[in-house]
Amino acid sequence: MLTRRQTVAGFGALPLVAGLGGRAEAQEVVKIGLILPMTGQSASTGRQIEAAAKLYMAQNGQAVAGRRIELIVRDDTGAADVTRRIAQELIVNEKVAAIGGFGLTPLAFAAAPLATQSKTPMIVMAAATSAITEQSPFIVRTSFTLPQATQPIADWAAKNNIRKVISLVTDYAPGIDAEKAFKERFGRTGGEVTAEVRVPLRNPDFAPFLQRVADAKPDALFVFVPSGIGGQFVKQFVERGLDKAGVKLIGTGDVTDDDLLNDMGDAIIGVVTSHHYSAAHNSSENRAFVQAFRAANPNMRPNFMAVGGYDGMHLFYEALKKTNGATDGQGLIDAMKGMSWVSPRGPITIEARTRDITQNVYVRRVEKVDGQLYNVEFDTFEAVPDPIKGR
Ligand code: PHB
Repeated sequence: MLTRRQTVAGFGALPLVAGLGGRAEAQEVVKIGLILPMTGQSASTGRQIEAAAKLYMAQNGQAVAGRRIELIVRDDTGAADVTRRIAQELIVNEKVAAIGGFGLTPLAFAAAPLATQSKTPMIVMAAATSAITEQSPFIVRTSFTLPQATQPIADWAAKNNIRKVISLVTDYAPGIDAEKAFKERFGRTGGEVTAEVRVPLRNPDFAPFLQRVADAKPDALFVFVPSGIGGQFVKQFVERGLDKAGVKLIGTGDVTDDDLLNDMGDAIIGVVTSHHYSAAHNSSENRAFVQAFRAANPNMRPNFMAVGGYDGMHLFYEALKKTNGATDGQGLIDAMKGMSWVSPRGPITIEARTRDITQNVYVRRVEKVDGQLYNVEFDTFEAVPDPIKGR
């Protein structure tokens, strides 16, 4: 048996491929593996990115540069050791050409050494700590960075008579990025962050922290919580009566995530945030994206995670076109560097030097549009790079 199998693999297969030439090549599969939290606290991130990646493939076909693309989606449950094990399996056993996804910063950090060792492109579609792209020369990012999303809301606050702010962030790397970026930028305009509060990532209870805020009565509360947590936060903010006590809620757009926003209730109307994507973004590309996403996924509204997944697939497809279907990791990552296109969120660039994303950041206010709650954009900071690393 063994001999026969060896014969088939060793001698049979080669002439067959050579004989069929282009046709055999046309059927050669290229795999991309997405590692996502499909269960647990960040499950909405996984659902959004999977839906968007599948939509991209349905719209753009399964064949690229004569090769058939196969998408593999694996659930890491939001646990870093699982992310690492799945990354290893996808790279070694499935021989994927790229890995993508990464719903939380610690998960991206866990996979980065494997991307480096195996020279496998790693497309970060969700996680948003500035330092992620520095963990491997094979990392590119289609999501955003917290410092990038934070500076515009600091500027808006300064221009709108907000002087004393308490910041409240989830206590891990992207929260610390947001806290620092807000304090630094807001401080430059004479504003003051009077207290910095950090809440745990797992099962957060905001009530005790919000009580402190209610007692201190700042002009505004700046908040960062990761996608999926905003609903809980806003509920407790309203329960404490902070909305009525005159404490303005401001933040990055993670807290008014489109996946949850419509269920937050009218108390959220008027909240101003800055972010790189809103489902209400007014462009023909976005209207087409939202319509197609909803048609394919009834009862779901795409959020900023979805757009990161959609653009991540675009980056992979276009890189593969540039390499004429060649999948060596260095060739693919080089093809991704410097790429620009118009995303549903607006124009974006993957900076060649940093492999990070430059994009517009919009200032938005929650409003009711046709009976639904949306982040309605009213100001644009154009082509913002990650401020820590620059262009
Ligand atoms: C992250 O862990 O990097 C992260 C997750 C969700 C967000 C933002 C950042 O909304």
